[in-house]
Amino acid sequence: MRILITGSNGQLGNEIRVLAENYPEYEFIYTDIDELDISEPNKVEDFFSANRPEAIINCAAYTAVDKAESDKHLAYLINTTAVENLCKAACQIDALMVHISTDYVFDGKYWSPYVENDPTNPQSVYGRSKLAGEEAVWKYARKGLIIRTSWLYSAFGNNFVKTMIKYGTEREELNVVSDQIGTPTYARDLAKAILDIIPNALEMEGSSLYHYSNEGVASWYDFADMIIKFSGINCIVKPIQTKDYPVHAVRPCFSVLNKAKIKETFNITIPNWRESVKDCIQRLKQQPN
Ligand SMILES: NC(=O)c1ccc[n+]([C@@H]2O[C@H](COP(=O)([O-])OP(=O)(O)OC[C@H]3O[C@@H](n4cnc5c(N)ncnc54)[C@H](OP(=O)(O)O)[C@@H]3O)[C@@H](O)[C@H]2O)c1
Repeated sequence: MRILITGSNGQLGNEIRVLAENYPEYEFIYTDIDELDISEPNKVEDFFSANRPEAIINCAAYTAVDKAESDKHLAYLINTTAVENLCKAACQIDALMVHISTDYVFDGKYWSPYVENDPTNPQSVYGRSKLAGEEAVWKYARKGLIIRTSWLYSAFGNNFVKTMIKYGTEREELNVVSDQIGTPTYARDLAKAILDIIPNALEMEGSSLYHYSNEGVASWYDFADMIIKFSGINCIVKPIQTKDYPVHAVRPCFSVLNKAKIKETFNITIPNWRESVKDCIQRLKQQPN
């Protein structure tokens, strides 16, 4: 089975590359903006008809949440219009479109883990552009799989784990918000889940929506504290409130995702976030500086 990965130089795309050797039944085509700019509909259509993948995993996105507030056009171009391009081209070759979305489609005012059909109410440009991307899948994909995830980190790219290790090494104290609650998600775990469920997803008709994050619940403060402890860094992590850490985009104060649907439908187990943070930090320790 031929699988096209878009945005393959990002966190999720790179974790798929690492796992690829465990899936000899798949042939992967890796692209990022230089090989396939998903915002260009004609190029997408030509690429799809020349390469004819059976599934597309769209790892490309505009993920700079705060920058998106002043860069609305580009955020919508990549997170919405480009998704429409991919879905239309996928339809023409009858391919499965796997699309990744976000917990930031919710407003966080609901204090129970979100299920897939809970009402959305994004509070940021990024969240609204991603929700519009989901709507593009519902509207234009013949076979679509939308997976919402949260607080993604990995051994690749810039992310919260790497930032905490860097600042924790440089400073004696770190202030981290403790009143935003969610679940960190290891991109490697998400990558494995996607690759495992693709054969079943290919058999399904129409489009469907699932939530996937690691198991458990954390604040950003809990997450930072864990990172610093596992890394063996001598730094004090202090809890602060969101109001004392001003940023451009509003984040949901609660965005834990309920994963029952994806676990039951595809019979997968999901690691607890603490175990996955350990794994990521071990890998980072093994990487050359
Ligand atoms: N990161 C999170 O915390 C988080 C949380 C929830 C959901 N998600 C979702 O999870 C998915 C994967 O996120 P990620 O963190 O792996 O993203 P990422 O690391 O930011 O990777 C995205 C990749 O897409 C590329 N890209 C940008 N514009 C493109 C275009 N026009 N054509 C092709 N490629 C393009 C980027 O290139 P450049 O780097 O050069 O722009 C980058 O390599 C995204 O859909 C994201 O919205 C992420």
